[in-house]
Amino acid sequence: MAPIQPATNQTAIRVLGRGQAPGKVILFGEHAVVYGRPALAVPVTQVRAEAVVEPAAPGAGLMLVAADLGEEICLEDAPAQHPLVVAARLTLAELGLSESPPWRVVIRSSIPIAGGLGSGAAVSAALARAMADAAGQPLSPAALSAIVYQVEILHHGTPSGIDNSVVCYEQPIYFLRGRAPQTFSIGRSFTLAIANTGIASPTREAVADVRRGRERDPARFDALFDRIAAIVEQVKAAIEDGVPETLGPMMDENHALLREIGVSDPALDTLAEAARRAGAGGAKLSGAGRGGNLIALVTAETQDAVSSALRAAGAVDVIVTTVDGSEH
Ligand code: MEV
Repeated sequence: MAPIQPATNQTAIRVLGRGQAPGKVILFGEHAVVYGRPALAVPVTQVRAEAVVEPAAPGAGLMLVAADLGEEICLEDAPAQHPLVVAARLTLAELGLSESPPWRVVIRSSIPIAGGLGSGAAVSAALARAMADAAGQPLSPAALSAIVYQVEILHHGTPSGIDNSVVCYEQPIYFLRGRAPQTFSIGRSFTLAIANTGIASPTREAVADVRRGRERDPARFDALFDRIAAIVEQVKAAIEDGVPETLGPMMDENHALLREIGVSDPALDTLAEAARRAGAGGAKLSGAGRGGNLIALVTAETQDAVSSALRAAGAVDVIVTTVDGSEH
Protein backbone atom coordinates (compact mmCIF):
# COMPACT_ATOMS: atom_id res chain seq x y z
CA MET A 1 0.00 0.00 0.00
CA ALA A 2 1.28 3.48 -0.84
CA PRO A 3 1.47 6.06 1.96
CA ILE A 4 -1.35 8.60 2.07
CA GLN A 5 -0.54 11.71 0.09
CA PRO A 6 -1.11 14.81 2.23
CA ALA A 7 -3.68 17.16 0.73
CA THR A 8 -1.88 20.28 -0.46
CA ASN A 9 -4.72 22.70 0.22
CA GLN A 10 -7.36 21.29 2.60
CA THR A 11 -9.75 24.22 2.21
CA ALA A 12 -9.89 23.94 -1.58
CA ILE A 13 -11.02 20.29 -1.63
CA ARG A 14 -14.48 19.86 -3.11
CA VAL A 15 -16.66 17.23 -1.47
CA LEU A 16 -18.67 15.18 -3.97
CA GLY A 17 -20.42 12.92 -1.47
CA ARG A 18 -20.60 11.95 2.17
CA GLY A 19 -21.70 8.84 4.04
CA GLN A 20 -21.68 7.63 7.60
CA ALA A 21 -22.86 4.70 9.68
CA PRO A 22 -23.09 4.04 13.43
CA GLY A 23 -21.63 1.26 15.53
CA LYS A 24 -23.92 -1.39 17.03
CA VAL A 25 -24.31 -3.71 19.97
CA ILE A 26 -26.11 -7.00 20.04
CA LEU A 27 -28.39 -6.88 23.08
CA PHE A 28 -29.39 -10.56 23.18
CA GLY A 29 -29.19 -13.63 20.95
CA GLU A 30 -25.69 -13.61 19.45
CA HIS A 31 -24.45 -16.97 18.12
CA ALA A 32 -27.92 -18.54 18.46
CA VAL A 33 -28.94 -16.14 15.66
CA VAL A 34 -26.59 -17.99 13.29
CA TYR A 35 -28.84 -21.06 13.87
CA GLY A 36 -32.16 -19.41 13.08
CA ARG A 37 -33.00 -18.09 16.54
CA PRO A 38 -33.99 -14.42 16.97
CA ALA A 39 -31.64 -11.73 18.23
CA LEU A 40 -31.92 -8.05 19.19
CA ALA A 41 -29.43 -5.33 18.31
CA VAL A 42 -29.32 -1.53 18.52
CA PRO A 43 -27.19 1.15 16.87
CA VAL A 44 -24.57 2.95 18.97
CA THR A 45 -24.31 6.48 17.67
CA GLN A 46 -21.45 7.67 19.91
CA VAL A 47 -19.08 5.88 17.57
CA ARG A 48 -19.28 6.04 13.79
CA ALA A 49 -17.58 5.45 10.48
CA GLU A 50 -17.54 8.32 7.99
CA ALA A 51 -16.53 8.54 4.35
CA VAL A 52 -16.03 11.55 2.10
CA VAL A 53 -15.69 11.44 -1.69
CA GLU A 54 -13.35 14.02 -3.21
CA PRO A 55 -12.36 14.44 -6.84
CA ALA A 56 -9.19 12.56 -7.85
CA ALA A 57 -6.92 13.57 -10.72
CA PRO A 58 -8.48 12.75 -14.12
CA GLY A 59 -7.56 9.17 -15.09
CA ALA A 60 -6.54 8.28 -11.51
CA GLY A 61 -9.54 6.01 -11.11
CA LEU A 62 -11.04 5.21 -7.72
CA MET A 63 -8.73 5.67 -4.73
CA LEU A 64 -9.72 4.36 -1.30
CA VAL A 65 -8.01 5.98 1.66
CA ALA A 66 -8.28 4.26 5.04
CA ALA A 67 -7.10 7.35 6.91
CA ASP A 68 -6.87 5.73 10.38
CA LEU A 69 -4.76 2.86 9.07
CA GLY A 70 -2.56 4.97 6.80
CA GLU A 71 -3.53 2.93 3.73
CA GLU A 72 -4.20 4.27 0.26
CA ILE A 73 -5.54 1.76 -2.22
CA CYS A 74 -6.00 2.16 -5.95
CA LEU A 75 -9.03 0.07 -6.92
CA GLU A 76 -7.49 -1.10 -10.18
CA ASP A 77 -4.41 -2.74 -8.68
CA ALA A 78 -5.65 -3.63 -5.20
CA PRO A 79 -6.05 -7.20 -3.90
CA ALA A 80 -9.50 -8.37 -5.05
CA GLN A 81 -10.42 -9.69 -1.59
CA HIS A 82 -9.60 -6.51 0.33
CA PRO A 83 -12.84 -5.63 2.19
CA LEU A 84 -12.81 -1.98 1.07
CA VAL A 85 -12.23 -3.05 -2.52
CA VAL A 86 -15.09 -5.55 -2.38
CA ALA A 87 -17.39 -2.90 -0.85
CA ALA A 88 -16.42 -0.35 -3.52
CA ARG A 89 -16.85 -2.80 -6.45
CA LEU A 90 -20.24 -4.01 -5.19
CA THR A 91 -21.34 -0.39 -4.79
CA LEU A 92 -20.21 0.56 -8.29
CA ALA A 93 -22.18 -2.42 -9.64
CA GLU A 94 -25.28 -1.48 -7.62
CA LEU A 95 -25.05 2.11 -8.92
CA GLY A 96 -24.62 0.89 -12.50
CA LEU A 97 -21.20 2.58 -12.79
CA SER A 98 -19.01 0.20 -14.75
CA GLU A 99 -15.81 2.25 -14.81
CA SER A 100 -13.93 3.53 -11.79
CA PRO A 101 -14.89 7.18 -11.45
CA PRO A 102 -12.02 9.58 -10.61
CA TRP A 103 -12.81 9.72 -6.91
CA ARG A 104 -10.73 9.71 -3.75
CA VAL A 105 -12.83 8.21 -0.97
CA VAL A 106 -11.44 9.00 2.47
CA ILE A 107 -12.72 6.74 5.27
CA ARG A 108 -12.37 7.36 9.00
CA SER A 109 -13.86 5.50 11.93
CA SER A 110 -14.05 5.98 15.69
CA ILE A 111 -15.34 2.40 16.14
CA PRO A 112 -12.72 0.09 17.69
CA ILE A 113 -11.62 -2.54 15.16
CA ALA A 114 -12.61 -6.13 16.08
CA GLY A 115 -14.23 -4.82 19.26
CA GLY A 116 -17.69 -6.24 18.61
CA LEU A 117 -19.17 -2.84 17.77
CA GLY A 118 -19.64 -3.52 14.07
CA SER A 119 -16.63 -1.60 12.83
CA GLY A 120 -16.25 -3.58 9.58
CA ALA A 121 -19.94 -3.28 8.71
CA ALA A 122 -20.03 0.44 9.51
CA VAL A 123 -16.96 1.19 7.40
CA SER A 124 -18.47 -0.64 4.40
CA ALA A 125 -21.81 1.11 4.90
CA ALA A 126 -20.24 4.58 5.16
CA LEU A 127 -18.13 3.92 2.05
CA ALA A 128 -21.11 2.71 0.00
CA ARG A 129 -23.31 5.60 1.19
CA ALA A 130 -20.67 8.20 0.28
CA MET A 131 -20.21 6.71 -3.20
CA ALA A 132 -24.00 6.61 -3.72
CA ASP A 133 -24.23 10.24 -2.58
CA ALA A 134 -21.47 11.25 -5.00
CA ALA A 135 -23.34 9.45 -7.81
CA GLY A 136 -26.60 11.20 -6.84
CA GLN A 137 -28.28 7.81 -6.29
CA PRO A 138 -28.99 7.24 -2.59
CA LEU A 139 -29.22 3.56 -1.64
CA SER A 140 -32.15 2.13 0.31
CA PRO A 141 -31.25 0.50 3.65
CA ALA A 142 -32.05 -2.90 2.09
CA ALA A 143 -29.75 -2.34 -0.91
CA LEU A 144 -27.00 -1.01 1.34
CA SER A 145 -27.40 -3.90 3.76
CA ALA A 146 -27.11 -6.43 0.91
CA ILE A 147 -23.77 -4.88 -0.12
CA VAL A 148 -22.45 -4.82 3.45
CA TYR A 149 -23.54 -8.43 4.00
CA GLN A 150 -21.33 -9.54 1.09
CA VAL A 151 -18.36 -7.80 2.71
CA GLU A 152 -19.22 -9.31 6.10
CA ILE A 153 -18.78 -12.74 4.52
CA LEU A 154 -15.07 -11.87 4.06
CA HIS A 155 -14.74 -10.82 7.71
CA HIS A 156 -16.87 -13.53 9.32
CA GLY A 157 -17.32 -16.48 6.97
CA THR A 158 -20.98 -17.21 7.70
CA PRO A 159 -22.56 -14.06 9.13
CA SER A 160 -26.20 -14.21 10.17
CA GLY A 161 -26.83 -10.74 8.71
CA ILE A 162 -27.65 -8.99 12.00
CA ASP A 163 -24.60 -6.68 12.04
CA ASN A 164 -25.13 -5.27 8.54
CA SER A 165 -28.87 -4.89 9.22
CA VAL A 166 -28.58 -2.79 12.37
CA VAL A 167 -25.79 -0.64 10.96
CA CYS A 168 -27.63 0.02 7.66
CA TYR A 169 -31.19 0.46 9.02
CA GLU A 170 -29.93 2.49 12.03
CA GLN A 171 -32.87 1.25 14.10
CA PRO A 172 -33.33 -1.26 16.92
CA ILE A 173 -33.53 -4.56 15.06
CA TYR A 174 -35.28 -7.85 15.83
CA PHE A 175 -33.51 -10.24 13.51
CA LEU A 176 -34.27 -13.70 12.23
CA ARG A 177 -31.86 -15.12 9.70
CA GLY A 178 -33.26 -15.20 6.16
CA ARG A 179 -36.09 -12.75 6.93
CA ALA A 180 -36.30 -9.00 6.37
CA PRO A 181 -35.12 -7.25 9.57
CA GLN A 182 -37.90 -5.86 11.75
CA THR A 183 -37.58 -2.83 13.96
CA PHE A 184 -39.00 -2.87 17.49
CA SER A 185 -40.12 -0.06 19.73
CA ILE A 186 -38.38 1.12 22.87
CA GLY A 187 -41.21 1.68 25.37
CA ARG A 188 -38.92 3.46 27.83
CA SER A 189 -35.29 4.39 27.32
CA PHE A 190 -32.56 2.53 29.17
CA THR A 191 -28.83 2.93 29.55
CA LEU A 192 -25.98 0.56 28.88
CA ALA A 193 -22.31 0.73 29.77
CA ILE A 194 -20.34 -0.88 26.96
CA ALA A 195 -16.93 -2.07 28.13
CA ASN A 196 -14.19 -2.97 25.67
CA THR A 197 -11.92 -5.78 26.91
CA GLY A 198 -9.19 -4.55 24.54
CA ILE A 199 -8.93 -8.10 23.22
CA ALA A 200 -9.69 -8.33 19.49
CA SER A 201 -12.71 -10.58 19.12
CA PRO A 202 -12.07 -13.29 16.50
CA THR A 203 -15.64 -13.53 15.19
CA ARG A 204 -14.77 -16.01 12.46
CA GLU A 205 -13.06 -18.43 14.89
CA ALA A 206 -15.70 -18.06 17.60
CA VAL A 207 -18.47 -18.81 15.10
CA ALA A 208 -16.48 -21.77 13.69
CA ASP A 209 -15.87 -23.18 17.19
CA VAL A 210 -19.57 -22.97 18.01
CA ARG A 211 -20.30 -24.81 14.76
CA ARG A 212 -17.86 -27.59 15.72
CA GLY A 213 -19.38 -27.78 19.21
CA ARG A 214 -22.85 -28.13 17.75
CA GLU A 215 -21.69 -30.80 15.34
CA ARG A 216 -20.34 -32.80 18.30
CA ASP A 217 -23.43 -32.36 20.47
CA PRO A 218 -26.39 -30.99 18.49
CA ALA A 219 -29.03 -31.71 21.16
CA ARG A 220 -27.13 -29.79 23.86
CA PHE A 221 -26.35 -26.80 21.65
CA ASP A 222 -29.88 -26.63 20.22
CA ALA A 223 -31.29 -26.64 23.77
CA LEU A 224 -28.95 -23.73 24.68
CA PHE A 225 -29.99 -21.84 21.52
CA ASP A 226 -33.68 -22.47 22.30
CA ARG A 227 -33.25 -21.08 25.81
CA ILE A 228 -31.56 -17.97 24.35
CA ALA A 229 -34.44 -17.62 21.86
CA ALA A 230 -36.95 -17.68 24.72
CA ILE A 231 -34.98 -14.95 26.53
CA VAL A 232 -34.94 -12.82 23.37
CA GLU A 233 -38.75 -12.97 23.07
CA GLN A 234 -39.16 -12.13 26.77
CA VAL A 235 -36.72 -9.22 26.50
CA LYS A 236 -38.37 -7.82 23.38
CA ALA A 237 -41.72 -7.77 25.16
CA ALA A 238 -40.17 -6.12 28.25
CA ILE A 239 -38.48 -3.41 26.15
CA GLU A 240 -41.64 -2.72 24.13
CA ASP A 241 -43.75 -2.66 27.32
CA GLY A 242 -41.44 -0.07 28.87
CA VAL A 243 -40.01 -2.17 31.71
CA PRO A 244 -36.32 -2.33 30.73
CA GLU A 245 -35.28 -2.54 34.40
CA THR A 246 -36.36 -6.20 34.25
CA LEU A 247 -33.63 -6.98 31.69
CA GLY A 248 -30.81 -7.47 34.19
CA PRO A 249 -31.40 -11.08 35.25
CA MET A 250 -31.99 -12.04 31.60
CA MET A 251 -28.63 -10.50 30.68
CA ASP A 252 -26.98 -12.59 33.40
CA GLU A 253 -28.71 -15.73 32.15
CA ASN A 254 -27.84 -15.06 28.51
CA HIS A 255 -24.21 -14.54 29.56
CA ALA A 256 -24.21 -17.84 31.45
CA LEU A 257 -25.63 -19.62 28.37
CA LEU A 258 -22.92 -18.05 26.18
CA ARG A 259 -20.33 -19.32 28.66
CA GLU A 260 -21.76 -22.81 28.27
CA ILE A 261 -21.56 -22.41 24.51
CA GLY A 262 -17.87 -21.62 25.04
CA VAL A 263 -17.57 -18.04 23.82
CA SER A 264 -16.95 -16.17 27.05
CA ASP A 265 -13.45 -15.82 28.48
CA PRO A 266 -11.86 -14.80 31.80
CA ALA A 267 -11.68 -11.11 30.80
CA LEU A 268 -15.40 -10.97 30.00
CA ASP A 269 -16.38 -12.95 33.12
CA THR A 270 -14.27 -10.63 35.29
CA LEU A 271 -15.89 -7.53 33.78
CA ALA A 272 -19.39 -9.02 34.19
CA GLU A 273 -18.74 -9.75 37.86
CA ALA A 274 -17.23 -6.29 38.47
CA ALA A 275 -20.24 -4.59 36.83
CA ARG A 276 -22.74 -6.55 38.92
CA ARG A 277 -20.84 -5.88 42.15
CA ALA A 278 -20.80 -2.13 41.34
CA GLY A 279 -24.59 -2.07 40.99
CA ALA A 280 -25.35 -2.98 37.36
CA GLY A 281 -28.75 -4.61 36.91
CA GLY A 282 -27.11 -7.34 34.82
CA ALA A 283 -24.24 -7.90 32.40
CA LYS A 284 -23.41 -10.05 29.40
CA LEU A 285 -20.90 -10.31 26.62
CA SER A 286 -22.07 -8.74 23.37
CA GLY A 287 -21.15 -9.97 19.89
CA ALA A 288 -18.88 -12.88 19.14
CA GLY A 289 -17.16 -13.00 22.55
CA ARG A 290 -13.61 -14.26 23.31
CA GLY A 291 -12.77 -10.62 23.96
CA GLY A 292 -14.66 -7.77 22.33
CA ASN A 293 -17.33 -6.12 24.42
CA LEU A 294 -19.42 -6.55 27.51
CA ILE A 295 -22.68 -4.67 28.08
CA ALA A 296 -24.03 -3.81 31.53
CA LEU A 297 -27.44 -2.40 32.41
CA VAL A 298 -27.00 0.84 34.37
CA THR A 299 -29.06 3.78 35.63
CA ALA A 300 -28.24 7.45 36.14
CA GLU A 301 -27.36 6.50 39.73
CA THR A 302 -25.12 3.52 38.94
CA GLN A 303 -23.46 4.44 35.63
CA ASP A 304 -20.42 6.21 37.11
CA ALA A 305 -19.69 3.52 39.70
CA VAL A 306 -20.16 0.74 37.13
CA SER A 307 -17.97 2.50 34.54
CA SER A 308 -15.20 2.99 37.13
CA ALA A 309 -15.46 -0.63 38.27
CA LEU A 310 -15.27 -1.84 34.66
CA ARG A 311 -12.12 0.23 34.06
CA ALA A 312 -10.59 -0.99 37.32
CA ALA A 313 -11.34 -4.58 36.25
CA GLY A 314 -9.43 -4.14 33.00
CA ALA A 315 -11.74 -2.49 30.43
CA VAL A 316 -9.66 -0.33 28.08
CA ASP A 317 -12.68 1.83 27.25
CA VAL A 318 -16.24 2.28 28.49
CA ILE A 319 -19.01 3.96 26.47
CA VAL A 320 -22.27 4.84 28.20
CA THR A 321 -25.14 4.86 25.71
CA THR A 322 -28.87 5.44 26.03
CA VAL A 323 -31.12 3.18 24.00
CA ASP A 324 -34.18 5.26 23.15
CA GLY A 325 -35.22 4.25 19.67
CA SER A 326 -34.56 7.71 18.22
CA GLU A 327 -31.20 6.82 16.69
CA HIS A 328 -32.30 7.40 13.10
C1 MEV B 1 -21.36 -11.16 15.72
O1 MEV B 1 -21.52 -9.76 15.91
C2 MEV B 1 -22.64 -11.87 16.05
C3 MEV B 1 -22.61 -13.39 15.88
O2 MEV B 1 -23.91 -13.86 16.25
C4 MEV B 1 -22.30 -13.79 14.46
C5 MEV B 1 -23.40 -13.43 13.48
O3 MEV B 1 -24.55 -13.23 13.86
O4 MEV B 1 -23.08 -13.37 12.29
C6 MEV B 1 -21.60 -14.04 16.80
